[in-house]
Amino acid sequence: MQYQWYPGHMTKAKRQMQEDIKLVDLVIELVDARVPISSHNPDIDALCRQKARMVLLNKADLADEAKNQAWCDFYKNQGIFAVRLDARNRGGMKEVHRVIQDACKEKIERNLKRGILNRPVRAMVAGIPNVGKSTFINSFAGKACAKTGNKPGVTKGKQWIRLNKQVELLDTPGILWPKFEDQAIGKHLAYIGSIRDEIINREGLALELLKELLERYPQLLAGRFALLEPQTPLAAFEQIAQNRNCLKKGGGLDMDKAAGLLLEEFRSGKLGRITIEEPREQPAIAMDQ
Ligand code: G4P
Repeated sequence: MQYQWYPGHMTKAKRQMQEDIKLVDLVIELVDARVPISSHNPDIDALCRQKARMVLLNKADLADEAKNQAWCDFYKNQGIFAVRLDARNRGGMKEVHRVIQDACKEKIERNLKRGILNRPVRAMVAGIPNVGKSTFINSFAGKACAKTGNKPGVTKGKQWIRLNKQVELLDTPGILWPKFEDQAIGKHLAYIGSIRDEIINREGLALELLKELLERYPQLLAGRFALLEPQTPLAAFEQIAQNRNCLKKGGGLDMDKAAGLLLEEFRSGKLGRITIEEPREQPAIAMDQ
């Protein structure tokens, strides 16, 4: 199955991000904790050279907690600052603040040596669509934030949100586009709902997801859909349709309905906390700070 996505706007978004990056000290990259490989665009490594970086493993509430920990360990081993997060929940923001200070330590110390005392770290958020960038900016900025408006030396029209004395955040996130270097990336993004279902074959996608879930989380699947195990993906798919009364009017199983049901229950977390991609599948990340 082929998954293609987002034909236009890519060049414009990339150019915009190149401009915005010049204005900041730190780039906060959001990835989806369920698919941290597919939701990361490796272009960011080249775009952010010379900048401090950190990764937010967002939607961690939907991902497998043991795998969240494994991912955090992976990033740490690569020398990358990372925090797992539910961006809808303000509670996690304290940790983000702490890690920002760590990620920008060198910059802050350099400023102090030069006698620059009150210069906040300027940061921007970046990531592919739907990873939670706007949600994060809203939660992180909260109600108490003050928009600082235009400043001399800063491109006209840029709005900075002053979070506290130490940090200012650019109010518009940098949009990256997924890189479809291999078909698994498109497929994994389709699982989490980042590719419109209208342009994909839902039944085919659900069957692929079932294959992965039977390998990685057979008990969650069996428990949720009352499956008899062990079974082939196709047999499991049919059993889901049967157990959930997905029937066509004229008779027979409505597999498209069953596919929609499975995808929705996976995406919303009803099926349980599931991570599709593991750190051992991730090649080393080049973070040039
Ligand atoms: P974007 O700017 O990167 O494109 O993403 P955005 O913030 O619009 O978030 C996309 C969807 O992901 C939103 O749901 C948002 O509520 C949800 N979301 C963001 N962060 C988290 C998180 O940490 N955990 C969970 N579970 N969901 C998160 P939506 O259904 O599109 O909108 P809404 O119904 O929430 O308004």
